[in-house]
Amino acid sequence: MLTINCIIYKSIGHFCLATPFKTGSRFITVNLTSKFFKMGTKGEKVDEILKNRKNFDTLAIHEGQEPSQWTHKAVIPPICMSTTFEQYAPADHAGYEYSRSGNPTRNCLERAIAALESAKYGIDVLNMMYDSWLYHGYLRLKVNIWVGVLPGLCFSSGLAATATLTHLLKSGDHIISFDDVYGGTNRYYRRCASNYNLETTFVDARDPENVKNALRPNTKMVWMETPTNPTMKLVDIKAVAAIVKEHSNAVLVVDNTFMSPYFQKPLMLGADIVMHSVSKYINGHSDVIMGTIATNNIDLYEKIKFLQNALGAIPSPFDSYLVNRGLKTLHVRMERHQENGLAVARHLEKHPAVERVLHPGLPSHPQHSLALRQCSGFSGMVSVYLHGQANEFVRRLQLFTLAESLGSIESLVEIPSLMTHMSVPEEQRKELGITDNLVRLSVGLEAKEDLLADLDQALEGLRRRAVPVSTLLSSLIKTSVADVTRSNHLFLET
Ligand SMILES: Cc1ncc(COP(=O)(O)O)c(C=O)c1O
Repeated sequence: MLTINCIIYKSIGHFCLATPFKTGSRFITVNLTSKFFKMGTKGEKVDEILKNRKNFDTLAIHEGQEPSQWTHKAVIPPICMSTTFEQYAPADHAGYEYSRSGNPTRNCLERAIAALESAKYGIDVLNMMYDSWLYHGYLRLKVNIWVGVLPGLCFSSGLAATATLTHLLKSGDHIISFDDVYGGTNRYYRRCASNYNLETTFVDARDPENVKNALRPNTKMVWMETPTNPTMKLVDIKAVAAIVKEHSNAVLVVDNTFMSPYFQKPLMLGADIVMHSVSKYINGHSDVIMGTIATNNIDLYEKIKFLQNALGAIPSPFDSYLVNRGLKTLHVRMERHQENGLAVARHLEKHPAVERVLHPGLPSHPQHSLALRQCSGFSGMVSVYLHGQANEFVRRLQLFTLAESLGSIESLVEIPSLMTHMSVPEEQRKELGITDNLVRLSVGLEAKEDLLADLDQALEGLRRRAVPVSTLLSSLIKTSVADVTRSNHLFLET
């Protein structure tokens, strides 16, 4: 058995390297692929890799996209629709067997997504096999090495990613979930996972002590979302990670959908797994449903990769291509989402028809200081409690489309209690603050002046249609209600 310690920069998987090499060498550059493969003593090149690590904007455009990976040198990864791949010999292939277990287009995307999420570059030689036979005059090496960022894993939807991750558990295990997660996540744990004897405890994780108190010997997964959807509550990821690590052997998963990896990096803050509904900011164009996970933990990666293939909830090559394309502008889009979102939040906070605005970037947000510490910016998500009728407000909006989902180029509006969070039991909705006057805005990339004007005209319409309580009272009891008239806050539908 020959042992060679290798560094394969930016790569993972099974590689067939055909190269002349000298056994016992401490450093070998592989001639055929010298641009991407470097070999040396284990650990030797880590500092160099770290030093050369590119910025987010560069990674978003280039990671996983190298033209040299294709014989035709395509600059943009092609859509590879083939479901199956020719093998050199039985069980000896060029990295792909069947598109459920791996697909070239999806592979490019999975590498790119993980590079944006992962802070950690590392090296781990999984196993290495040396076939002592000659291939075209060269010795042939089969290596399976992880170096650099572990690839992400993509799924056919965000909920498919959630369901696949839950398969890491077994019957009798316990889950702790933030009580204010996406309605579909809540529904999945309450109505699907529960059928397999997986009990979920929902806690208000704004106080990390509540997570600690809910831990049981059989707690195997802690599921956090921050900021939450739609009430914008934050979890201190670092604090919860410390508790989970110290008091359990549970896996901490953070749903990072609302922030995108551009503004928040849960893996750097101690999470074991970061999960996204790619359907939102990562794709950003409202034309793909997809989910993804990324981890720095090689054991978890191996298990989830197994489940990805074994359960089969994978995205199509065409969707992978579209997301790959969307990802390249993520950083530019997020900057504009932030600018527009903050403009909307600040504007609405001053509006008399608005009771309260929820946006972690506002000093009025109760966890504003945590947001500043934990995130490097804010997305375009803004939730608003109105004084008037939410139904009437959304009907009057012209630029904001009344639709579920979020994180796309176009601005959307929805009423969570009637739409995305309808599946959360009414009692729980009340406790969480998901009331009928709560409206969620996903602020898009339109000109902010147009967005503000649209919000203004919709709110103004509410005021005009509404009859102040004072008028109603005065006509009924014919008395002076001057004090009440001054209130901008009370409106009744005619
Ligand atoms: C925060 C969050 N997580 C997960 C999901 C589920 O993702 P998908 O719709 O891609 O299944 C959603 C969907 O709205 C979401 O908002």
